[in-house]
Amino acid sequence: MNKLCIKGNKNLNGNVIISGSKNAALPILFMTILTKEKIQISNVPNLTDIQIALKLLIHLGAKIKKRNNIHIDASSINIFYAPYYLINKIRASIWILGPLLSRFGRAKIYLPGGCKIGNRPIDLHLSGLTQLGAIINVKGDYISAYIKGRFQGKYIFMEKISVGATITIMSAATLAQGLTIIDNAAREPEIIDIAKFLNSIGANIVGAGKKTIYIKGVSKLTGGKHKIIPDRIETGTFLIAATISQGCIICQKTEPKHLKTVLMNLSKSGAIITTGKDWIELDMRGKRPKSLNINTAPYPGLPTDMQSQFALLNTISQGVGVITENIFENRFIYASQLIKMGAKLKIKNNTMTCYGIPKLIASNILCSDLRGSATLILASCIAIGVTIVNHTYHLFRGYDSFPDKLNKLGADIKII
Ligand code: EPZ
Repeated sequence: MNKLCIKGNKNLNGNVIISGSKNAALPILFMTILTKEKIQISNVPNLTDIQIALKLLIHLGAKIKKRNNIHIDASSINIFYAPYYLINKIRASIWILGPLLSRFGRAKIYLPGGCKIGNRPIDLHLSGLTQLGAIINVKGDYISAYIKGRFQGKYIFMEKISVGATITIMSAATLAQGLTIIDNAAREPEIIDIAKFLNSIGANIVGAGKKTIYIKGVSKLTGGKHKIIPDRIETGTFLIAATISQGCIICQKTEPKHLKTVLMNLSKSGAIITTGKDWIELDMRGKRPKSLNINTAPYPGLPTDMQSQFALLNTISQGVGVITENIFENRFIYASQLIKMGAKLKIKNNTMTCYGIPKLIASNILCSDLRGSATLILASCIAIGVTIVNHTYHLFRGYDSFPDKLNKLGADIKII
């Protein structure tokens, strides 16, 4: 699972079924700590990050059954601390802090892990919980927190838009006493899906997806069922696969309205895009993409999780395109590997200027983060020759069956 051998120079064509959203499934799994009733979650992607999240819940005492849906009974959760070896593997583990405090009034965890795309602080998470009444102590990478009684609803202004911190505050406000207002909240579709799930089991959340979210605390939550939204970043990644390989790909079981900015940029690059209720077709047959100037931004702007994929598009496009990364401070790590494959890229601070070339050349390359891995695998599918891609464990954290899905579209990828 750690090395791929990829024969390049392929056009990628056909239908691909999009899996459930990693970044909706992970927080929703941890939100189940808030209730003692049974929860059933469907459309959960098969990812190593999900497996780690489930291991964390089982460690806390939850009972989990995995069939085609995931059945969680969190009533038996009886401990409020989690081990370093599980916590430090995923960024999402920070989302057990709010629910454990809601449930037990205390929690002992560690600083979370996640892709090394920046220093990934959690100050906004901790300040949100503190404003709602928690006492939090951080010593090194060990966090111990407690709260007397329930969280108290408050008006909270987010000095910086943060997906994770918005979710942490929502998780604590759900069972708080009184009203919490999150001003300058993140507006990602995953936030809406979390609110939809919590409201379906008795929460009272209004305004998710907008700048201000109102959460009226309730005393307890019930059980229920929830289907995870499609993964918009996996969708965008396959749309880029069609664009850079001059192919035609239909992404099925997805949600076009979650990708407005991505689709707008891909049509600017020359792609013919058609959408339906739950599908998107991108046709780039016989055309070389035109370079794009891309600025990543919080939703509904161009997602930072699509930055490396658009950089790859620029690498083989006609013209010069500038990529500006405005969210994370170290998210160009993959660029050195594209340069090894012949890409003409110049990085200065948070911008990367891409001088388009007609073809990449196969090489022996290294992955270092999740979205960068998918990008380097797509680069290998179109490069001339056979590429060996190393450290592909990053990929399986966030893409469900990515090599199989690409091979069904005409790629030639072997796991070695
Ligand atoms: C979530 O990360 C996603 N991860 C990321 O996806 C995604 O890139 C990011 O949101 C932005 O959309 C998950 O959902 C598991 P942030 P998160 O808090 O919550 C700074 C992927 O590839 N910040 O919105 O960590 C932070 O450093 C991953 O699927 C603070 O300063 O992102 C960044 O510069 C990668 N203090 C900015 O805010 C904090 O307390 C936005 O981060 C928290 C964040």
